[in-house]
Amino acid sequence: MLLSQRVIPIKTFKIKYILCIFEIVILCKFNHKFLKTGKGIPSMKKTINFKLNGKPVTLDADGGRKLLWVLRTDLGLTGTKYGCGESYCGACTVIVNNDAVRSCQISVQDVQDKDVITIEGLIKGDKLHPLQKAFAEHDALQCGYCTPGMIMSAYSLLKKNSSPSVREIKAGLEDNLCRCGAYKRIISAVQTASAEMKGVN
Ligand code: FES
Ligand code: FES
Repeated sequence: MLLSQRVIPIKTFKIKYILCIFEIVILCKFNHKFLKTGKGIPSMKKTINFKLNGKPVTLDADGGRKLLWVLRTDLGLTGTKYGCGESYCGACTVIVNNDAVRSCQISVQDVQDKDVITIEGLIKGDKLHPLQKAFAEHDALQCGYCTPGMIMSAYSLLKKNSSPSVREIKAGLEDNLCRCGAYKRIISAVQTASAEMKGVN
């Protein structure tokens, strides 16, 4: 009998299907835990130096560990969010040498001797950055999960173009997803911040 002609009893099929889904869920959970903690992954520790929010940082870390987990788990900077882990959502965006970068995609060894800025680095003392202030004033968020990544992408955009048009803001932020759909208010916030930042860092 040809393989395609074999009839699998529906009960066996259902059990196999459920076991398969169960296996996938368990694997994903373990995978996420390993990525987050680094435990269980063969370690290649090296000394990594970089600047984080203006201050020098030296770490003995597995060079291949993703920057996102080093920031969140090792350094306690939880403003940078984990969304998809696949480069789709932009929730994990940070600035590396003035470029908006997905921290879920780059390894900590990739920021050796570079300048990293996270959402925590924008606030100066108790003074919010114009972007943070404008997002609050325009109520440019609902759940707020996308906000740090959105602000960091806007920061990079305004560094390169201090007076972006609406079209340029849309293009600059198009890879950052907001599931709550606050896009209109986000664009207004970036316009307000851009007006305030002219000539300001
Ligand atoms: S968590 Fe990095 S792009 Fe979604
Ligand atoms: S405010 Fe909820 S995802 Fe953007």
